[in-house]
Amino acid sequence: MSEPLLKVQGLKTHFFLERGVVKAVDGVDFEIKKGEIFGLVGETGCGKSVTSLSILRLIPSPPGKIVEGEVIFEGENLLKKSKEEMRKIRGTKISMIFQDPHTSLDPVFTVGHQIAEPIELHQVIEQHLISAEEVPRKVIEMLKLVRIPDPEHRVVEYPHMFSGGMKQRTMIAMMLSCNPSLLIADEPTTAVDVTIQAQILDLMRELRQKLGMSILIITHNLGVIAEMCDRVAVMYAGNIVEQADLKTLFKSPKHPYTHALLEAVPKVGTKKGKLASIPGMVPSLITPPPGCKFHPRCPHAMDICRKKFPQMSEIEKGQLARCFLYGGGAKK
Ligand SMILES: Nc1ncnc2c1ncn2[C@@H]1O[C@H](COP(=O)(O)OP(=O)(O)OP(=O)(O)O)[C@@H](O)[C@H]1O
Ligand SMILES: [Mg+2]
Repeated sequence: MSEPLLKVQGLKTHFFLERGVVKAVDGVDFEIKKGEIFGLVGETGCGKSVTSLSILRLIPSPPGKIVEGEVIFEGENLLKKSKEEMRKIRGTKISMIFQDPHTSLDPVFTVGHQIAEPIELHQVIEQHLISAEEVPRKVIEMLKLVRIPDPEHRVVEYPHMFSGGMKQRTMIAMMLSCNPSLLIADEPTTAVDVTIQAQILDLMRELRQKLGMSILIITHNLGVIAEMCDRVAVMYAGNIVEQADLKTLFKSPKHPYTHALLEAVPKVGTKKGKLASIPGMVPSLITPPPGCKFHPRCPHAMDICRKKFPQMSEIEKGQLARCFLYGGGAKK
């Protein structure tokens, strides 16, 4: 087994608001191996984005704070790095694609200029990997890599002249121009239509193959997970409640929340408008229910579930669940 590229351990990120402490991420553990595509899935507000922003140390502070845990990347704890060191890591080793390409591309600069900028900063000035003269060639190369047609001409165009999908791919080109070993993609396809979504996912898979990077995909779309991931973690109210390889998760889900998520996916053949949803509401992250946070919505809730917080336990090799139906080794 290859060693992990990223190891998140006991991560807790809270927001200290006047109305209380939002425990957005409250004890999260997972590992991503080299070259692996790892998915983080869960309903809205369960702490997925806060997890990824914590890895990158981009939590707005105040009110946010990483209160506990470790984020070990290539053997080093990112939570111990200085701001300057983190800025360098973000530009070169870990890149993030955000949901909406419109907010990430600047309308007043050409596409080529925007791809050139990080290349100049990191590869020319900081690392002396290439000379300034080589930058235009590198920019075209990046546009080709993300399959922008006719890159030699389009490089001088402005973002508004690009289609939604092309903007998204341009952003990916910017992110990849420094050969990151980890790409974090937070809802990479929610702002684009289904055809473009398929293209972007294809592109990311191809890039993983070509460049050998690891990818952390964050989404509430199980279809995206099914198509892309090697392994998956299911998040609920600030914790990971199940983790398994893709096949196992879909074929033999263990945690009742994973069951509910899978059942909520509209299936081919179901009547329109009959989309199942998970009964009940996502709990408050300021005053979560005692015991297992899912118990108020869980059809199998037992006495212990209302009292004790379940631990993650290994059910089968590589499949973990945080549930008293499967051990759950009581603590707290
Ligand atoms: N800057 C902030 N200040 C206060 N609370 C925040 C802040 N950022 C996030 N939170 C809270 O942290 C919790 C987790 O939010 P997060 O953005 O991680 O959810 P998510 O799982 O990414 O949801 P979605 O699928 O909607 O993107 C939410 O309750 C959110 O309101
Ligand atoms: Mg989010």
